[in-house]
Amino acid sequence: MKQYSNAELLEKLAALKKERNAIILAHNYQLGEIQDAADFCGDSLELSLKAAKSDCSVLLFAGVRFMAETAKILSPDKTVLLPREAGCDMADMADGRALAEFKKLHPGALTVCYVNSTAAVKAECDWCVTSANAVDIVRSLPGDKEIIFVPDRNLGAYCGEQTGRKMILWDGYCPVHQRITPGVIKARKKEFPESELLMHPEAPKSVRDLADRLLSTGGILRYVRESREKSFIIATEIGILHRLRAENPDKVFISATEELVCPWMKVLRLEDLVNSLENMTIQIELPEELRKKAEAPIRRMLEFKK
Ligand code: 13P
Ligand code: SF4
Repeated sequence: MKQYSNAELLEKLAALKKERNAIILAHNYQLGEIQDAADFCGDSLELSLKAAKSDCSVLLFAGVRFMAETAKILSPDKTVLLPREAGCDMADMADGRALAEFKKLHPGALTVCYVNSTAAVKAECDWCVTSANAVDIVRSLPGDKEIIFVPDRNLGAYCGEQTGRKMILWDGYCPVHQRITPGVIKARKKEFPESELLMHPEAPKSVRDLADRLLSTGGILRYVRESREKSFIIATEIGILHRLRAENPDKVFISATEELVCPWMKVLRLEDLVNSLENMTIQIELPEELRKKAEAPIRRMLEFKK
């Protein structure tokens, strides 16, 4: 099979995008070449908003399945493509049926899901949140209600710490962020004592307590852009370093550990984007009843004002 150069692939991609009336949305953890080829890069909240507002016919999602599913839930009339199968280990730690049973143990509780969840889990929930708005949304919920938080026990606990609300936590977590340990952080801080430590709230409490700021990936990018600091230790998936370095050439970024690699976020290459638009694969489809149920908590989130 003929090997194409990146320039040739980008040319093909541009032609296909025009032909299909498509846009490419990429998550901040994707490989640099994918982020650079995308029309828009962002965190989960920014990508959801973009998916909801875009007037194209085809949304090509360079990310993981729950992100493409969220786009399909919000834009059922569009064709949503996930170029290659890519899951999220945390999202796969909760399923809709088990959540329905769990809810029976806590009658009257409000159920909040992290956007890193399947459509079936979202369909069981009152609210959806992302790492960018979870604390504010939890704070806004009626004080007399218990709150079930699914699937991320770390983000859920963080919401509890910030709001004083009692959280009933599902026992899920992100295996990538779970690799950030106090030992790793202390060693990095010793090596780079002047650097500010920016961390994603999916990290466990033992290291959250050592962070200077806890932010979504979009929040990290915004914070660094506005900060006068010159050096940062970044405690989240390494894909974010691409944009951080491109947008802030005068600043220094050190990964908390080189082990922060999400294998699902690294499956895509430029060829996959081209193949996806050429063959219109993999199309995300959801039964309409499930889509509608899953849409309600996401819409509530998108309409939420602090
Ligand atoms: P963000 O919404 O902060 O980009 O996080 C998504 C994610 O999967 C983190 O692991
Ligand atoms: Fe899921 Fe963790 Fe990968 Fe984010 S980094 S997509 S939470 S497995």
